[in-house]
Amino acid sequence: MAKKMWGTRFAKKTSLLTDKFTSSIAFDKRLAKYDVLGSIAHAKMLGRSRIISKKESQLIVKGLKSILREIEDNKFRINHKAEDIHSNIQEALVKKIGEVAHKLHTARSRNDQIVLDVKMYIKDEIKNLVKLIILLQKSVLGFAKRNANIILPSYTHMQVAQCILLAHHMLAYIEALERDKDRFKDAKKRTNHMPLGSCALSGTSLPIDREFVKDELGFAKLTNNSLDSVSDRDFIIELLSGLSILSVHLSRMAEDLILWSTKEFNFIDIDFSFCTGSSIMPHKKNPDVLELIRASTGRIQGDLSSVLILMKGLPLSYNRDLQMDKPPLFDAIDTMKGTLEIFIALFRNIKLNEEAIANRLMDESLFSVDIVEHLIAKGVSYRQAHDIVGRMVKDCLDKGRKFSDLSEQELKKYSDKLGPGIKRILNAWTSVNMKRSHGGTSPLQVAKQLKNWAQKLKKNHISLNTEFK
Ligand code: ARG
Repeated sequence: MAKKMWGTRFAKKTSLLTDKFTSSIAFDKRLAKYDVLGSIAHAKMLGRSRIISKKESQLIVKGLKSILREIEDNKFRINHKAEDIHSNIQEALVKKIGEVAHKLHTARSRNDQIVLDVKMYIKDEIKNLVKLIILLQKSVLGFAKRNANIILPSYTHMQVAQCILLAHHMLAYIEALERDKDRFKDAKKRTNHMPLGSCALSGTSLPIDREFVKDELGFAKLTNNSLDSVSDRDFIIELLSGLSILSVHLSRMAEDLILWSTKEFNFIDIDFSFCTGSSIMPHKKNPDVLELIRASTGRIQGDLSSVLILMKGLPLSYNRDLQMDKPPLFDAIDTMKGTLEIFIALFRNIKLNEEAIANRLMDESLFSVDIVEHLIAKGVSYRQAHDIVGRMVKDCLDKGRKFSDLSEQELKKYSDKLGPGIKRILNAWTSVNMKRSHGGTSPLQVAKQLKNWAQKLKKNHISLNTEFK
């Protein structure tokens, strides 16, 4: 283990086991860039506030900038024996510019430093997540637009319900994803409070300028309580909660597609490039990608639980427990980014089995509510109309007949308000056409929504940097 930042007071060396057990370098190394950016702002502030000399400040900033370049070029040497990324960088700076490097840690503790690093990292990752969500929305919208003339049977309780436009179903996903995006943007507001200057927990007697550091690093506000600054991990929990809800949405979308791709449904074909086969059953084409998308929910919820349990009952202020907020945070972000990336690509490659879908629309139970509403329009009460159609359904099921098989005379037996006119509404297009209420599935409403989303999403010129482009 490298020389400790705090070793002087120690009567003897720490055990190697302790060094290994307490080290976080294996995972916090990913914060290197943010640690250096934070340090540059801090060093500049120390110079401006005359806590260190201008010259010392310039020397430190120069050294840090050269470390930053190494990090960006992937050339920075991580010392796996370092206690954490903060000591690793401090040590590298000493090597570069000598003893003056030690002045960098003036009016700062790793307790406020780590919160700053994680907040900066999260702010960047929220940008990435928002971009990926927009790309997924665009991908789903593209699928909806390519298939704007497709009607599907919809389901409640996994039983056939009513006709809807496929595009309407896709727009439901886009709405949910929009709320996810909003949740991240909202979480960002609270992450955007700058903690540096809180030091160990009580602030400092030195004349620091926290406003300057805040502005340098692009934060919106300062944290207002030094104790809270080093103890708070709500911003991690909020992000993980947002990721958990998003993962639930993705799992539901994946599940719909898995069901639709079964032989039993046969609504869609998932492209071969997103399926796998079986080592024993030669006929198989399995939707493993979608299943793994569904599975990431468990992993991400686990990450959220992990941090919630970590925080529960933790006394103020900093405790080393807080080091363990990072593995679940990083895991959830990595898992989600991977999940979104492949889902974006998969959506671009779904094919519809139009004939199989059209065949399902022959099921006239899809129109039972339309007959109820037809009767209501003719002045029948809702209760009566429901009973009338209920009797028709029962008789048809008992006798293996369809609504459209019923003669005028037979219809009249159910209600004098029924006549051959109802045959007109036993049709999928008529059925969707009639759902003109705001947010309903009529082509008119859906086209309006498609247009709104196309405009809204067009404003974001983002492209996905993967092999699936
Ligand atoms: N590695 C620690 C963490 O991730 C930060 C260092 C604070 N350590 C300390 N002994 N105060 O939270």
